[in-house]
Amino acid sequence: MTGPLQIARPDLGPEEAAAVARVLGTGWVTQGPEVAAFERELAAFVGAPEAVATSSCTAALHLALVALGVGPGDEVVCPSHSFIATANAVRQCGATPVFADVDLDTFNLDPADVARRLGPRTRALLVVHQLGLPCDLEALLALARARGLPVVEDAACALGSEVLTERGWERIGRPHGDVACFSFHPRKLVTTGDGGAVTTRDAALAARLRRMRQHGMTVTDAQRHASGAVVFEAYEAPGFNYRLTDLQAAVGRVQLGRLPAALVARRALVDRYRERLDGAPEVVVPVEPPRARTNWQSFCVRLSDRCDRSQREVMEALLAAGISTRRGVMCAHLEPAYADQGPYEGLARSEQARDRGLVLPLHGGMSVDDVDRVCAALLAAAR
Ligand SMILES: Cc1ncc(COP(=O)(O)O)c(C=O)c1O
Repeated sequence: MTGPLQIARPDLGPEEAAAVARVLGTGWVTQGPEVAAFERELAAFVGAPEAVATSSCTAALHLALVALGVGPGDEVVCPSHSFIATANAVRQCGATPVFADVDLDTFNLDPADVARRLGPRTRALLVVHQLGLPCDLEALLALARARGLPVVEDAACALGSEVLTERGWERIGRPHGDVACFSFHPRKLVTTGDGGAVTTRDAALAARLRRMRQHGMTVTDAQRHASGAVVFEAYEAPGFNYRLTDLQAAVGRVQLGRLPAALVARRALVDRYRERLDGAPEVVVPVEPPRARTNWQSFCVRLSDRCDRSQREVMEALLAAGISTRRGVMCAHLEPAYADQGPYEGLARSEQARDRGLVLPLHGGMSVDDVDRVCAALLAAAR
């Protein structure tokens, strides 16, 4: 590929093309056997009893919150420092996101600040595994359980990430909260173009999610097709069209097969980033706490107080050197779409993380030499 070194690149090849062609030949192109197989394989990968595929992670979050009973008048505590879909999913339910601040070293929710934001209208916690790094689930689950609140894990970026529990290392999505929601957008390690999934251990909840993602239909197309009899479906509650197609699911199945090797390859590139950047006073390199292993979906460094260049200046210098970057994770409360929802207070670390974060290139098409080039350009720009 010509042009600057990209921050992310999906790893798609002839196997994915063959999988799509195979499905096209069957004539069953949406919410059919491929989706069912993808769900089984995803559930097995994360260690969850149930996986429910959806059209995106945003759809998965909305569906999960509605299924857990979040509605108008409710509050959901979540980070502002996340992709805006986290907060939007709460608002789609008619509920209000109450933003808690994050920890600067992990970009994840600070449980002490979450505790401060809980109130009589809090209906759920929506916790994010930011950029793939698991948040402090142990502390956040304890807070939620003490108040009988459900926990939705926004695991959009965290497929393949792990947390240390009393049972040992477990993959995100098992789930540890009530549900975990994944994204298969092209920036993620497994992509279906667009797509998402909810994983849960609750079979009744999974059945409700399956109905709601397909217009609230009590009998699916696949069930009617297989029955050999005349079957009339009913629509007992309003639902949505949040279906994943079989074409996408077929791609997802191939992508899932590639994931273990992709995780190893990314970790090797990150090790090289660390070798080159550790100890540089201008740049803070992300850390994995002892209880968490990230999938390194993204590598987001932070410009320290010792770097007197602005985020934009550093990004422009890198672009001039042929290297794409992105600013760190956004803050929903600073966007015009949330201006009328405030006032907001106590989100200084979220704002600092947004203003000083820098996402560097990291994908399977990169070599160690590419990493060295990025680091040399970054250190030159930041000094
Ligand atoms: C934390 C987080 N939540 C939700 C989403 C939304 O995912 P999707 O684009 O699949 O709707 C993203 C997308 O990047 C994300 O990073």
